[in-house]
Amino acid sequence: MEFVDVLSRWVHVGTAITVLGGSVFLRFVLQPAAAQLPEEPHNQLRGLVMQRWRRIVQVGILLFLLSGFYNYLGGMGGHRGDKFYHMLVGTKILLAFGVFFLASVLTGRSPTFEWMRAKSKTWLAVTIGLAAIVVAISGYVKVVHPPRAAPVASPAPAVH
Ligand code: HEM
Repeated sequence: MEFVDVLSRWVHVGTAITVLGGSVFLRFVLQPAAAQLPEEPHNQLRGLVMQRWRRIVQVGILLFLLSGFYNYLGGMGGHRGDKFYHMLVGTKILLAFGVFFLASVLTGRSPTFEWMRAKSKTWLAVTIGLAAIVVAISGYVKVVHPPRAAPVASPAPAVH
C-alpha cells in the first residue's frame, strides 16, 4: 500500500532526525553547559532532563523497529537474491540494536550500568558515532542498491 509505505518512511526518517538530533544537542550543547553549574543544580537538571528524554528514546526505539521492519519486509521483493544488500542492511540492523542498547542504558536507571552513565560523555559520543554509521549505511543502500523494478508484463501479441 503506497500510503503506508510513505508513512513508514516519514516515521523512520523523522525518528532518526528527532533521536539523533536530540542526542547531538545533549552531548555537544547541554552537557558542556550544564557542567558549569554547581553540583546540586547540575544533578537536579540531569534528573529532570532524563525523565523527559527517556520517554522520547523509548517511543523512538519502538517507532524505529515498527517502521524499520515494515520497510525491510516490504522491500524484500525488490532485493531478492541481492546478497550485498542483505549483508549491508543486516549489519545496519545489528548496529541499530547496539545503538538501542546504549541509548536505553544511558537514559535508564539500572544500577548495573551506573558505571556507563558515570562516563556518559564518552558513551553518548560512541552512541552518536554508531548511529551516524547506521545512517551512512542506510543512505548508501538506498542510492547504490535501489530495489529492482518489477518486471513489466509484455503486451500480448496482436492477433490479425
Ligand atoms: C539507530 C536506528 C536507525 C536509524 C538512525 C535509521 C536510519 C535510517 C535512514 C536515514 C534510512 C534512509 C531512509 C530514506 O532515505 O528514505 C533508513 C532506511 C531503512 N531502515 Fe533504518 N534506521 C534505524 C534503525 C532501523 C532498524 C531497527 C531497521 C529494521 C529493523 C531499519 C530498517 C531500514 C530499512 C529496511 C531501510 C530502507 C533501506 C533501503 O533503502 O532499501 N532501520 N534508516
